[in-house]
Amino acid sequence: MIPLDARHSDSHGSSYVDRSRADAPEPAIRRHSIGRHLLYRGDCLSVMKRLAPQSVDVVVTSPPYNIGLLYNTYSDRRKEEEYLDWMTSVAQGIKRVLRPDGSFFLNITGSSTMPWLPFELIVRLRSLFRLQNHIAWVKSITVGENSVGHFKPVNSARFLHRNHEHIFHLTQSGAVPLKRLAVGVPYKDKSNIARRGHALDLRCRGDSWFIPYDTVQAKAQKFDHPGTFPIALPRMCVRLHGVSSPVVLDPFMGTGTTLLAAEEEGGRGIGIDLDGSYVGIARNRLHAALRNP
Ligand SMILES: C[S@@+](CC[C@H](N)C(=O)[O-])C[C@H]1O[C@@H](n2cnc3c(N)ncnc32)[C@H](O)[C@@H]1O
Repeated sequence: MIPLDARHSDSHGSSYVDRSRADAPEPAIRRHSIGRHLLYRGDCLSVMKRLAPQSVDVVVTSPPYNIGLLYNTYSDRRKEEEYLDWMTSVAQGIKRVLRPDGSFFLNITGSSTMPWLPFELIVRLRSLFRLQNHIAWVKSITVGENSVGHFKPVNSARFLHRNHEHIFHLTQSGAVPLKRLAVGVPYKDKSNIARRGHALDLRCRGDSWFIPYDTVQAKAQKFDHPGTFPIALPRMCVRLHGVSSPVVLDPFMGTGTTLLAAEEEGGRGIGIDLDGSYVGIARNRLHAALRNP
């Protein structure tokens, strides 16, 4: 674990690590297979080189955001240019393994003091991919007087609480057909169904997805990992892409949430993480899911 004295707080309450060492030494690659899924401990750039070109249907991933989260081994505060260069190389690796009709869902956000980063990144990726959809992952929202969901409060006179993140849907052609109704919502006004000749009581959900975190009381319930996403997020991405038995890759697997989603959606997951303890958590979660389908 990171020693406590390496932790600081910025003026908005989030803690970060200020270490001059940018990267941990690259660990040897280890591979585990569980059910239909493959889990790798290793650097995603190296591991992706081992995967066949155009072999992946869907990538769903949440890379380190470079905002100073406290990961076990990875140092989440690189120089901005270095981070952007690195993420561009990762995206090149993803482009190589993604099928021409594949979908790459990139979940990312900035911080109050580093708000440009996700936008800088997505502009860089313009030379590699088309931005087919931009989905807002809404973690908390207030409708009228009613608030739902959870967020990390920002203690500041100038910044608002950050209640949403980005999911950039990147494709190679910009024209990948999607199964919109696989994540559709029922019509509010049922008379629309007959009037407009719809076969189903479902319409496209649109590009704002309210996906709250479960309420947790203890860090252990978040698997001692600082940056997980709820399983509904990768499940919805895989469903929206809409092919059956998809190969689903997460090059920054963390605790294996995307692999669990792949399992639940009938896919074959490939997960990669640098940190052996996170790979261990992912393996345990996947074993438990396979024991209790
Ligand atoms: C935001 S977390 C992903 C969390 C994941 N979505 C979940 O639900 O558990 C990013 C992960 O990237 C991993 N990571 C950082 N650099 C890496 C690299 N070069 N290759 C593979 N994984 C890396 C970190 O260890 C961390 O677990």
